[in-house]
Amino acid sequence: MESPFKADILRGKVALVTGGGSGIGFEISAQFGKHGASVAIMGRRKQVLEAAVSALQSLGIPAVGFEGDVRKQEDAKRVVESTFKHFGWLDILVNAAAGNFLVSAEDLSPNGFRTVMDIDSVGTFTMCHEALKYLKKGGPGRGTCGGTILNISATLHYTASWYQVHVSAAKAAVDSITRSLALEWGSDYDIRVNGIAPGPIGDTPGMSKLAPKEIDGKARESMPLYNLGEKWDIAMSALYLVSDAGKYINGTIIVVDGGLWLSRPRHLPKEAVKQLSRVVERRSRDTPVGVPTSKL
Ligand code: COA
Repeated sequence: MESPFKADILRGKVALVTGGGSGIGFEISAQFGKHGASVAIMGRRKQVLEAAVSALQSLGIPAVGFEGDVRKQEDAKRVVESTFKHFGWLDILVNAAAGNFLVSAEDLSPNGFRTVMDIDSVGTFTMCHEALKYLKKGGPGRGTCGGTILNISATLHYTASWYQVHVSAAKAAVDSITRSLALEWGSDYDIRVNGIAPGPIGDTPGMSKLAPKEIDGKARESMPLYNLGEKWDIAMSALYLVSDAGKYINGTIIVVDGGLWLSRPRHLPKEAVKQLSRVVERRSRDTPVGVPTSKL
């Protein structure tokens, strides 16, 4: 789909996207590039990174890839520094790197829990921490706005999610980091920190892990995936938040899921509610005040 935004809204900006080699991270990188940004992507897998950088460059986007694991502070430091050296400044950090797998809480080892906390929560904080000194500095595309950070989380922890105790906890921490940094760095350095909580997004590594094709038709039907989003939906929200269009938005986590997290089973059909409601109204009108309904 074509973007509804002007093609130059990120002109002159430099973005670093963790997990930018695939899925949502790649789409955000591509859309940022199509709207004028230069993009550095960070990931653990060399081949995936190389393919993603070539794809971005073939779209005419100034792009570079840096291998690294967000769990390692030395990698985070090196990649942020390399991005700054390569492009000359840094305006936008997107934390899209994440780890996920389906597992019951009973079967999840503490190390499995820690692994996802390390990637999603500690990794997000580490990247923000290492990027701060560069985000504080202005780049030529910055205008009057400060640097900005965008953290990708989820809606899993708004209620409770089956077989996702580790990811729910990790994403809750990410949202908390988003708000705390928005408060501190927004006040101190004019750096806006926001988040996006995607619903189930088609054609992503996350979805292929959470709803693999091996899950049979019946089980699949009972999973609330009737309203799959597209990577494009997340990237458009990302553009809005990091561009000057979002200049007064700080500490907000935008849910991009088509309203899915609010959904619950409909216990009565709409027509039945209409009938029942009228009957109840009539009964309450005809009931003398003070007479218990059980006595009528
Ligand atoms: N079920 C239960 N436990 C699992 C598991 C699974 N499917 N996959 C990994 N674990 C556990 C391991 O058993 C290990 O714990 P242990 O030492 O107590 O046995 C721990 O998690 C770490 O696993 P390991 O394979 O060593 O971690 P890794 O660093 O190589 O990989 C993952 C990290 C597990 C998060 C891996 O899925 C990954 O790299 N994910 C990134 C891509 C991704 O998930 N994308 C989707 C984003 S939404």
